Amino acid sequence: MLVAKRGFGLETSAAMSTTTSTTTTSTSPSTKRHHHEHDDVVDTPRKRRQTIQKEANVESFQVTHQEVLLLHGVKQPYTHTTKYEIPQIKTDTEMLVKVNVIGLNPIDWKASDFGWGLPALPCISGRDLAGTVVKTPKRESRFKVGDKVIAVSTDYRDNRKSAYQEYAIASEHNVCRLPPSISALDAAPVGVAYVAAALMLGVCIGLDFSHVNGPDLYTISRKLDPESVPKDIKDEVFNSNITPALRPKKGDWLAIWGGSSATGCIALQLAKLAGLRVVCILDVARNGARMLKLGADLLIDRLDTERAVEIVRSVTGGQLTWGIDTRGKESAGLLARAMASPSDAKAEGDNDKGKALGHLVALTGRPSSPTPGIQYHTLPIKLFHEAAPVGEALMVWLERLFEEGKLHPPPIEVATGGLQGVNGALDRLREGAAGGERIVVPLT
Ligand SMILES: NC(=O)c1ccc[n+]([C@@H]2O[C@H](COP(=O)([O-])OP(=O)(O)OC[C@H]3O[C@@H](n4cnc5c(N)ncnc54)[C@H](OP(=O)(O)O)[C@@H]3O)[C@@H](O)[C@H]2O)c1
Repeated sequence: MLVAKRGFGLETSAAMSTTTSTTTTSTSPSTKRHHHEHDDVVDTPRKRRQTIQKEANVESFQVTHQEVLLLHGVKQPYTHTTKYEIPQIKTDTEMLVKVNVIGLNPIDWKASDFGWGLPALPCISGRDLAGTVVKTPKRESRFKVGDKVIAVSTDYRDNRKSAYQEYAIASEHNVCRLPPSISALDAAPVGVAYVAAALMLGVCIGLDFSHVNGPDLYTISRKLDPESVPKDIKDEVFNSNITPALRPKKGDWLAIWGGSSATGCIALQLAKLAGLRVVCILDVARNGARMLKLGADLLIDRLDTERAVEIVRSVTGGQLTWGIDTRGKESAGLLARAMASPSDAKAEGDNDKGKALGHLVALTGRPSSPTPGIQYHTLPIKLFHEAAPVGEALMVWLERLFEEGKLHPPPIEVATGGLQGVNGALDRLREGAAGGERIVVPLT
């Protein structure tokens, strides 16, 4: 059962704008953070800089069994299991985290309903968690026992790292320490959405964050040993057709179809930090106000899709190069049409009619046939857990963004029942009942 809804920690006096029936414009967002009464982090910046872990802390953890949720088969609910072994640390960069809050993602119900992204069954699922470090990595580490963290488990084949259990393993480069200004409840749903947003912008379209104290993921990922990069993402990492000269520049437009999704609203904030102008296509009546507060330059209602395509094209002068779709192949196709110039439509394969090739990251599917003038990109999510330099750069930056109050988490609904409340909460996601909010499930 769901008991509470919470919004952004944003000042309501943030810049507002003029509105028409279908479009809305705004100026810059407020970046001041609201401190929540649920904050339970007692760490200090000075303490957090301590890096040497004490072996004694590792040995003092004596728990051997835990409660977990197991998925035994496709289209089945998760089963609550009370005596399951605590996962074991296997490498000297892994730590053990006590899970305090689970953040639910759409994939959590899609995996069980459609069998997507499932390892051998029975398995433990769940990609996002906030927790407390109980065993630090054996290697010298920036973490210490007691640190409040979020861990992002994109490595879904490794059950040890999944969120639907009381204790989870996490690789150091997939963990972000939480500053006192953000609570575990608010941070729990941020991980996957942030990683997806940052990789889409930084790797797929090559947006540089180094001038805003962030990583240049384009350069970091292209310096990786190609042999260490999984085959299925090699093209996205090394052959994206975006040369250094073609990378996004300050003032360029980016369109995000499905901008109010968790991934979309984080992509919006990161893109604004880097100096892009962002147009979001969404249900403006439902989610427009919070997107304006986050800094969207233009909102377009998604309920009239043809009109939305026309508006995007007209506002960007038919020159839109950068796009992200978070909804599916139909909206990816619409956004591609908005990005393609009329000459592209006439001459398939001829990209030299006054407009640069458009780059569209299709997060959840792309049209079955190519769109002239558009190159589709696929999120190389594996980079986050397989390439430590990429993962670490992302987590260290997230820590800084939280500390500086520059990243506002999505609004949340808090579900009750602990692990046993997860099935009911996933039903709400499945039914689309959570309109823009992320559902989080506290375990304690
Ligand atoms: N490949 C990966 O590794 C990866 C990683 C992250 C996410 N994803 C996928 O990316 C997608 C977005 O994920 P998310 O977690 O960011 O989503 P989310 O937060 O759950 O998205 C919710 C938003 O979807 C919009 N929406 C709801 N019904 C809609 C409809 N019928 N048509 C258009 N929009 C609708 C709503 O916005 P409005 O009503 O305001 O439009 C709502 O704010 C999911 O499919 C997820 O599985 C994939």
